[in-house]
Amino acid sequence: MNDRSSHRPILMFDSGVGGLTVLREARVLMPDRRFVYVADDAAFPYGAWEEPALKRHILELFAKLLDRFTPAISVIACNTASTLVIDALRDRFPGHPFVGMVPAIKPAAERTRSGLVSVLATPGTVKRQYTRDLISKWASKCHVRLVGSDRLAPLAEIYMRDGFVDEEAVRAEIAPCFVERDELRTDIVVLACTHYPFLANRMRKTAPWPVDWLDPAEAIARRAVSLLADIDPNGRGEVLPEGADLAVFTSNRTDFPTRRLLQGFGLAMS
Ligand code: DGL
Repeated sequence: MNDRSSHRPILMFDSGVGGLTVLREARVLMPDRRFVYVADDAAFPYGAWEEPALKRHILELFAKLLDRFTPAISVIACNTASTLVIDALRDRFPGHPFVGMVPAIKPAAERTRSGLVSVLATPGTVKRQYTRDLISKWASKCHVRLVGSDRLAPLAEIYMRDGFVDEEAVRAEIAPCFVERDELRTDIVVLACTHYPFLANRMRKTAPWPVDWLDPAEAIARRAVSLLADIDPNGRGEVLPEGADLAVFTSNRTDFPTRRLLQGFGLAMS
């Protein structure tokens, strides 16, 4: 493999198919790049793991992934993982650039007019100290409601493979995001799990009133572009090496709905 980082892939990482919402934005901004999409689906859902065990697990997995793919950068397209392990990954692999993905609390606090913001995430992300620190740092003037859901990420997995969504379940999961106080209403819901943008239409449909559903995927893809420009300023626009982008599923699953989904995203199973 050529040493130039322009010839090395970008590794996009999630516990399941959620990171595909970030991959699609990254592809638009970096059509000249190769990607390896890694779904740690053997360990899905991350939202249910205890913190020390999940941290150990991700660090061990990354040692193997970096060795196998020598990516130019890695994007942790998973809030549940990033809020736990992004600092530990940077410490453990100091030569390797990581882009993390944490709840978009700062932009939500800047945009809200009512001052009522909700953060919809996995139970793991909701209980992280990292998330609490983001709120005290950027949103101390807002009323932020943290809403943990253990059903939405699995619902998005089913939807992306089988095309079916339990709308009543979506309605019930998002309902706690909607707060009314002193004649003001929640006006922004932060989608703080990369699976959720796949359900955004159903969320809009079942919401009690319209809100801005804040998905930071494009901002994360932009961050990856600028990080790559820093590490390899002359690397853009080079001819691509042959071959499709790859998908790695840690469970090695090869069922038809998964293969069809990956094909739709232009990914070949490794
Ligand atoms: N997609 C992941 C995130 O952004 C979470 C899904 C899971 O629970 O594993 O938080």
